[in-house]
Amino acid sequence: MEGKLKITEVVAHIKGKEKTTKLTMKQDWPVRSIRGVKSKLPPSIPLITGQRVIDTLFPVAKGGTVAVPGPFGSGKTVVQHQLSKWADSDIVVYVGCGERGNEMTEILTTFPELQDPKSGKPLMERTILIANTSNMPVAAREASIYTGISIAEYYRDMGYGIALMADSTSRWAEALREISGRLEEMPGEEGYPAYLGRRLSEFYERSGNAIIDGTPDRNGSITIVGAVSPPGGDISEPVSQNTLRVTRVFWALDASLASRRHFPSINWLNSYSLYLGDLLPWFSENVSREWPEINGRMMGILQKEAELQEVVQLVGYDALPDKEKATLDVARIIREDYLQQSAFDDVDQYCSVRKQSVMMKLIMFYSDQVEKAISSGIGMDAIQNIPSKEKISRIKEVKDTELEKYMKDAMKSIESDIRAIRGDK
Ligand SMILES: Nc1ncnc2c1ncn2[C@@H]1O[C@H](COP(=O)(O)OP(=O)(O)OP(=O)(O)O)[C@@H](O)[C@H]1O
Ligand SMILES: [Mg+2]
Repeated sequence: MEGKLKITEVVAHIKGKEKTTKLTMKQDWPVRSIRGVKSKLPPSIPLITGQRVIDTLFPVAKGGTVAVPGPFGSGKTVVQHQLSKWADSDIVVYVGCGERGNEMTEILTTFPELQDPKSGKPLMERTILIANTSNMPVAAREASIYTGISIAEYYRDMGYGIALMADSTSRWAEALREISGRLEEMPGEEGYPAYLGRRLSEFYERSGNAIIDGTPDRNGSITIVGAVSPPGGDISEPVSQNTLRVTRVFWALDASLASRRHFPSINWLNSYSLYLGDLLPWFSENVSREWPEINGRMMGILQKEAELQEVVQLVGYDALPDKEKATLDVARIIREDYLQQSAFDDVDQYCSVRKQSVMMKLIMFYSDQVEKAISSGIGMDAIQNIPSKEKISRIKEVKDTELEKYMKDAMKSIESDIRAIRGDK
């Protein structure tokens, strides 16, 4: 059928074995029911977000699930906005659920001006907003995440990759609690209905990378990122606990990091990604062979730093051997120059995986040079303040096209600075 038609008019007939189905441009679907797929695929491709701490340390697979719990003002909304802008999905469904209206306005005003890095078109064209702000009715809030996930399934069934953001699932759970209370159902933990856990898992189970029903064989995915706002940041409460039971990635936002202006305030010691092992081969094949090894070293240094900080509290920094002082020095560089990433800087807001790999290599090159210098008898006091360290922090500002040259130059400077100290001795 061609020409101008109403969405309720029949545009095609599909002949099945038993019956013929009439097709209109409008489709109805009960939002609480899951749309089936032919089969689900194992997670093997990362959702690239351009956020270093996420892609490098706690990556999420396409079709995966993430919980982002964090206290008030720790950066949950900013992380989800960043993902909506930069994640390499075809479509973004953003469910603003019981949060402030101005956050929705921000998306509405900034997204039409931003360019989709993939298609070059305005970001708004690939974004679906479901606005249910705090002043709207609770019944609509309870329905909003189901509406979001059903729209996501609709596009997945066309073979697209969808990233769904839900901010915040705690407000959704509160709506559930309120409705359940009015229905005079038996309350469970903290007044939430006993079926809270089941509802949450039913929601997250609608994620996945799947082969879709129908012909020809197509593949589509839904990745779910759910913000959780536990009162006081205490994740022992029911919504956080039930969410963590079903999600496979946990980005723990940390109030103390946020108050020190370390953003994104994802705590590297508490967070985890159960996809890491499944995704490292992808990074090794598509970005750099050394990615898994360097990645492991970086995490190792950060964990060692936490141990050493306890020792420093007892005996003081000066009592540490040079080798351990070097670990603290490199860990500080990883924290400040790698993990911290401003969402508001024109260049730094998105960091390609190639750039991430180059940055990691440069930091590890510095670490190796320092280690060599120490074993040849140079003290950490002398190395600590070499001018070329500045080049490691400035690499954030370098554009992708100038990366290789910048890195070679920085490596040379580090070597010559250390050589100069050796000469002085
Ligand atoms: N990546 C970032 N870069 C720079 N600043 C950031 C970043 N993430 C968060 N911030 C700062 O922290 C502030 C609070 O962040 P955000 O609104 O995302 O917190 P929230 O956890 O959603 O809070 P609420 O519980 O009130 O919803 C932001 O306004 C911003 O100034
Ligand atoms: Mg918020």
